[in-house]
Amino acid sequence: MYNNHHVIRNSRWFIFLLWMIIWLSACSTADLPHEGDLTSFTSILAAQLQSLAQPPTTPTLLPTSLTPIPTPTMVPPASSPSPASPHFSLTIHPLRQYAPAHNLYIGAAVSPKPLLEDPYYAAVLGHEYNLLTPENAMKFEFIHPEPGFFDFTQADVLVEYAEQHGMTVRGHTLVWHLQLADWVEAVPCDQMEAVLKDHIETIVGHYRGQVYAWDVINEGIGDDGKLRDTIWLRCIGPDYIEKAFTWAYAADPAAKLFYNDYDIELENQKSSGVYELVASLLQKGIPIHGVGIQMHLVEAPPAAYLAKYMGSFADLGLEVQITEMDVRLPEPPTSETLIQQADIYRLVLRVCLEAPNCTAFVTWGFTDRYSWVPEFFPGFGSALVFDADYVLKPAYIALREELGKGE
Ligand code: G3I
Repeated sequence: MYNNHHVIRNSRWFIFLLWMIIWLSACSTADLPHEGDLTSFTSILAAQLQSLAQPPTTPTLLPTSLTPIPTPTMVPPASSPSPASPHFSLTIHPLRQYAPAHNLYIGAAVSPKPLLEDPYYAAVLGHEYNLLTPENAMKFEFIHPEPGFFDFTQADVLVEYAEQHGMTVRGHTLVWHLQLADWVEAVPCDQMEAVLKDHIETIVGHYRGQVYAWDVINEGIGDDGKLRDTIWLRCIGPDYIEKAFTWAYAADPAAKLFYNDYDIELENQKSSGVYELVASLLQKGIPIHGVGIQMHLVEAPPAAYLAKYMGSFADLGLEVQITEMDVRLPEPPTSETLIQQADIYRLVLRVCLEAPNCTAFVTWGFTDRYSWVPEFFPGFGSALVFDADYVLKPAYIALREELGKGE
């Protein structure tokens, strides 16, 4: 299905050239104008080349057709970690401008701390994305730290920001075996069902009408395709999954309810196990609306299988979403690895765009400045589409090119 390596190879050099120019411009002079829309890239390319040849003059290079949006030069408060590139600016045509045409949410996982402390993070997020997912703030240990006590402060910061920026919120996650509050381990098993029911009803109820979709169950299937051995399975039993979906639905019947997992973009026991679990829930009439494919990658997934897998859920009437994409690279990245990374982002987005039931494309963070990868994979990083200085990478251009197709 994807034998258009010729197209990708040509666009690779085009992207590389363009990225080099953007990177050079981010590192060199300030008031180079920003790229317009993709169709005027060639004129900008010529302009960039021309401007690199001579010292920058006033920004007359923008094609007259584009009404240049004044790009704010952000002056960071002394406390915030200002990016290395002194002339931070926003793209003129962000990803979120293109996504609606594909009925797609384009999103990123985020955290309240950088949102409150790093103005570049706050500026890029609302500018580029129309959806956000809490990376950690809605997880058990943070939102339900003590028995009977719920702390919504961190998650509320994210939900409020989303509302202020016309963004949709995807909740993550109600039931997981990790990042549990310490007190849960001490709960007698015969009380665990009541704890989980209260947890789900309280959180989904609190965000009713504000969170459009929830990862109800995260990583409930093991690599053998069977139910993962978790405290929920041990104490409540295998029907903890259908109970969780039923409680979430009762708390907010309008919210879309997802099963979310990793390594299911590959043909293996796990991806089959997830399909069988979801199909069995539907057969029992359990309210479930889709499957989240996390997509934490080091290499390109088999596009044909991924498309077929997404199609198998379409046949069940379910949505699929790319929920946590990142492509980690050996540090330091090279121009070659950055281009390979761009190809992988392009391939996954293209499969999603070509699957009518793929309704969201979310990356697990957006700038290499804040990413889980270096902590969990020492020696790896640079996994996202903006670098640590908020300069857009070849991967960003690949996403925008794919989203801009058909414009
Ligand atoms: O809250 C403590 C803080 O008090 C302490 O000062 C700090 C320093 O050690 O650690 C903070 O806890 C960290 C927590 O994230 C919140 O930032 C934990 O150490 C850290 O291990 C934890 O990592 C998160 C990880 O899930 C936990 O498994 C990552 O940020 C988060 O990106 C990651 O996300 C998961 C998805 O939820 C599910 N899919 C896989 C994905 C990546 O693992």
